[in-house]
Amino acid sequence: MPQNISVVIIDSDTDSINNIVKSIKNLGNDVSIEGTATSFESGHELIHRKRPMAVIMEVAEDVSLSIQYICQILSKFPQISIFATSTDKTSETILKVMRAGATEYLLRPVSETDLTFALQKLGRLWLVKTSPGEQVGNVISVFSPKGGVGVTTLSINLATSIYEITMKPTILIDLDLNAGDVTTFLNMKASYTVSDVTANISRLDKSFLQGVIQKHSSGISVLAEPKKVEEGISISAGEIRKVLGLLKTMYDYIIIDTETLLDRTTTAIEMSDMVLLVFVMSLPSITNIQRYLKFFENKGFGMDRIRLVANRYLKKGDIKVEDAQKALNRPIYWSIPNEYDTAVSCLNRGVPLNVGASKSELNQNIKELAKTITSSIKSGRY
Ligand SMILES: Nc1ncnc2c1ncn2[C@@H]1O[C@H](COP(=O)(O)OP(=O)(O)OP(=O)(O)O)[C@@H](O)[C@H]1O
Ligand SMILES: [Mg+2]
Repeated sequence: MPQNISVVIIDSDTDSINNIVKSIKNLGNDVSIEGTATSFESGHELIHRKRPMAVIMEVAEDVSLSIQYICQILSKFPQISIFATSTDKTSETILKVMRAGATEYLLRPVSETDLTFALQKLGRLWLVKTSPGEQVGNVISVFSPKGGVGVTTLSINLATSIYEITMKPTILIDLDLNAGDVTTFLNMKASYTVSDVTANISRLDKSFLQGVIQKHSSGISVLAEPKKVEEGISISAGEIRKVLGLLKTMYDYIIIDTETLLDRTTTAIEMSDMVLLVFVMSLPSITNIQRYLKFFENKGFGMDRIRLVANRYLKKGDIKVEDAQKALNRPIYWSIPNEYDTAVSCLNRGVPLNVGASKSELNQNIKELAKTITSSIKSGRY
């Protein structure tokens, strides 16, 4: 085989996993098993962390659900080859699974010969499939089910801090398409906006995007919010998927300021490596987050990508981090102090915190968050 192939196995039957592992081991060192999982959820997490070249995945009795899983993997990781394994020999199922994007359809129990052929073929095709040197940027969405909790403040300052730390191409996208205000926060006049991009979706390519994306004095690039409400309303989830897919090949870090949940926000969240779910320490805010965590779980979103961020945190407030963690049954990933004067003064001057209040606790805190995120990305552990 031309190069090392990395695989992840998702199969509810541990005997089947053992059988596949044994066959792969017989192939020697050309194929490495990055991990195995008995549920889609844990398999999905594994894929996120390990980014394998192939996923050997069981098509369960509920074929539609398995197809949904295949689509979910491929929408995020189009480079991955999926080997579907199934006991179903009907042409109807085979066709459905292959149409969903699977590369191979292997009958269970998977024979060593079939698996070897499939892996050899992958080894040859992989070189063609990847464009060497094409980068895959990291997408970080900042989201809150409720407005006014600091999503834009965090998105902007996270983007400028990440750029300050890494000096790597970083873009901030205002996907608050109906009420975005990134340009106000950054005191920018945008000649072009997200809607100019989506209006030209059929001729979208890197050079077109480069022409409409604006640079801010902090060094980050900005794709601004639409200027008119009508323009924002008409943008579809499919268009957002296409734009983000292309931006991932152009920037190392893509930070998204999202709007409340619509199809296009769900698309942005699906395509994100990390989602910062912002809330404040109040009962209504926590209850709302509980609801959304359940929603994300039911949707099959990779839950360990979702990080809770408590904004405007007061150490002496009624609700403490431990209380919120208990209520939400998840760790609070980060707490950002409440520093209204600093936040508003920078907002009114149209400057990011690292320019307008670099010594403030608020700026230092978000810079630390940026450091934590970028170093976990670097080490491959989101
Ligand atoms: N850590 C903080 N401490 C104090 N004030 C803050 C903090 N973060 C944000 N704010 C303030 O809260 C207000 C709302 O912030 P922001 O516009 O970022 O929220 P948002 O979630 O994007 O709101 P919208 O739903 O309007 O888009 C602003 O006045 C901002 O300055
Ligand atoms: Mg906002």
